[in-house]
Amino acid sequence: MKLTTALLSTVIFVVAAAPLAARAEGDWKKGRIYYRMVCTACHTEKTGAAIPPVGRTKADWNAYLSADKHAKGKDSFKYYISQKYRESIKDSNKAAAKFVSEPDDQLMEDVRAFIMRSAKDGEVPASCS
Ligand code: HEC
Repeated sequence: MKLTTALLSTVIFVVAAAPLAARAEGDWKKGRIYYRMVCTACHTEKTGAAIPPVGRTKADWNAYLSADKHAKGKDSFKYYISQKYRESIKDSNKAAAKFVSEPDDQLMEDVRAFIMRSAKDGEVPASCS
């Protein structure tokens, strides 16, 4: 009887945990490289200053990311994550070249993981963008 219960809980655990394992967690280290070398590089060039994750709370970032409006609504945030954009700058940007074949959804999760970790109320607030 005990063995059956143990087996049963193992089966239940495996079945319940499977969807969690299938969804790849964002890799904040990759996200940090991309954020610094693509997002921040353009921000410092175009606006004269970095726009660091620490400037917003996690809730603000979540709202920002789901609204998908970038540069005061002029374009899409997701575009700057996309493979299409990476392709277009890969000759002059090492991070874009490095991550050129990363699926858009995965890179989005990587960047999101870095942003959340480094947000104002994140685990490791990072001002160094
Ligand atoms: C090709 C240049 C460029 C790239 C790449 C870029 N941005 Fe921006 N971003 C801008 C400009 C320019 C502004 C400022 C717009 C303004 O203030 O008029 C901006 C503004 C922002 C803002 C301030 C709020 C807003 O939307 O106005 C956030 C947050 C932001 N960018 C996040 C990101 C992130 C994260 C990435 C990387 C995935 C990224 N940006 C990539 C040019 C870029």
